[in-house]
Amino acid sequence: MAQREDEDRGFDQAARDFDRLGRHLWQPIGRETVRRTEPRTGERVLDACCGTGASAIPAAERVGRDGAVDAVDVSEPLLERLRGNGAHLPSLRAHRADITTWEAGDYDLVQCVLGVFFLPDMAAGARHLIARARRGGRVCFTIWRRGAMVDAGRRLQGALERVTGIAAGERSGHLVDRVDEPDAFADWLRELGLEQVRVTEAPLTLPVSEEIAWLVVTGSGFVAALNGLDDAQIDRVRVEYLRSFREDGVEALDATTLIGVGTRA
Ligand SMILES: C[S@@+](CC[C@H](N)C(=O)[O-])C[C@H]1O[C@@H](n2cnc3c(N)ncnc32)[C@H](O)[C@@H]1O
Repeated sequence: MAQREDEDRGFDQAARDFDRLGRHLWQPIGRETVRRTEPRTGERVLDACCGTGASAIPAAERVGRDGAVDAVDVSEPLLERLRGNGAHLPSLRAHRADITTWEAGDYDLVQCVLGVFFLPDMAAGARHLIARARRGGRVCFTIWRRGAMVDAGRRLQGALERVTGIAAGERSGHLVDRVDEPDAFADWLRELGLEQVRVTEAPLTLPVSEEIAWLVVTGSGFVAALNGLDDAQIDRVRVEYLRSFREDGVEALDATTLIGVGTRA
């Protein structure tokens, strides 16, 4: 529970830089997802774990004023930005809620971009989201492909260890680490009861400028790792983290996703 609260606060803290990073990361992934979920005029869409609207906004543009997009997130600071970003879209409705307690249903399309692995029980959370779609409706989950974003996380951990002297605990096997390749992801979606499952890879590479590399920390859930550090320590972490990219000559970060779409039986 403590870890969950940290993660939720992490996204609140990330709000300031979320959209700055989003131009390079969240928005291209959201657009790619919506290209595959194909919201149509007049459809009802649930965008779960919506953040500032990287996929909810393109969906709302597509469904038009006769459709509706319920965009749900636990982070009020992110939702405030979504309301600003989508102010021109009458179909977009922002709701602050834990998606695992969202009971409305009969959606034509349920999409959850880079959110399902944050749910406390990922399989139960995914089932709950699938049940929000009408029978025959489309359901989409977007997750990181194996290896994506891992390098930045390792370098951040290394920098934290060098600055604080405290080694990070090993992440114990999360379900998402077993389904983060195309075939395994497709099998998992079928096990959850989806039909006509299609998984595609959406390649994305982030150039490692100092600005973007640090935004990857401050504009994402990684920012929670800085909790408890003072400003001077955070600055040292930043310097160490950026130095590690430079020393190893790393010029790009893999941000490839898997986009899985199926229909509810
Ligand atoms: C990596 S962000 C992705 C945001 C957005 N889908 C995008 O692609 O830009 C994950 C989001 O999941 C949200 N989240 C995590 N757990 C949640 C829950 N139980 N209910 C609703 N939102 C949740 C976080 O607040 C955060 O906005």
